[in-house]
Amino acid sequence: MLGAPKQAKFGASMDARQLKVEAARAALAHVSDGMRLGIGTGSTADEFVRLLAEKVANGLTIIGVPTSERTAILCGELGVQLSTLEETPELDLTIDGADEIDPALTLIKGGGGALLREKIVAAASARMIVIADRSKMVETLGRFPLPIEVNPFGLRATEIAVAAAAGSLGLSGPVTLRMTGSQPFITDGGHFILDASFGRIPDTRALSNALHAIPGVVEHGLFIGLASAAIIAGDGVQTVHAA
Ligand code: 5RP
Repeated sequence: MLGAPKQAKFGASMDARQLKVEAARAALAHVSDGMRLGIGTGSTADEFVRLLAEKVANGLTIIGVPTSERTAILCGELGVQLSTLEETPELDLTIDGADEIDPALTLIKGGGGALLREKIVAAASARMIVIADRSKMVETLGRFPLPIEVNPFGLRATEIAVAAAAGSLGLSGPVTLRMTGSQPFITDGGHFILDASFGRIPDTRALSNALHAIPGVVEHGLFIGLASAAIIAGDGVQTVHAA
């Protein structure tokens, strides 16, 4: 179930980057002084970091925990001081982007390759707010290939097991190793990413359980029950609440 959406209209149509900025700006209103804040990864989260940095420069004090090395570097460049999840294991709020969002606020994440740290940080947070432009909203997840973080050891065996797990649920499609040029993409945790194009995923919980049962799977990009709200920028900014 969704809570009543709150909406603020924009006067004119906006380009994709402006929509990300508006979603990020609306999320910033949820950040208060002294907050322990998880800071997401991706182009939308980057816009949030830029706006957050302006607030910090003007005196806002937060304890920030980044979800990736990329975000940590941007925060460092912009003067947002950071803690670690070791030092600050319980967070008040995480603000992060997503690749897809369904009406129940189940997400696909990991397009930027940071899904493992993103999920650990979100799970350590009392609340997670997702920021996105409206192109990320879908009725059923799965148009975006599902990122699956895997241990490099036994890669081929894990690929076969992932395909079999999906097949047992009636899902199929290409599972490809994410590459950077001619080399496998390596996550901050030293793992590989498989991008699984299974198409529509009607039962996200069943797929999550099936993937978690595979020893070589470190984590997957289905975020179930983690997001408490989504701030969506399109023809205005809409806040969708989880049930
Ligand atoms: C990174 C993520 C990102 O949040 C997701 O890919 C969305 O990124 P963007 O805001 O650039 O569209 O999950 O692992």
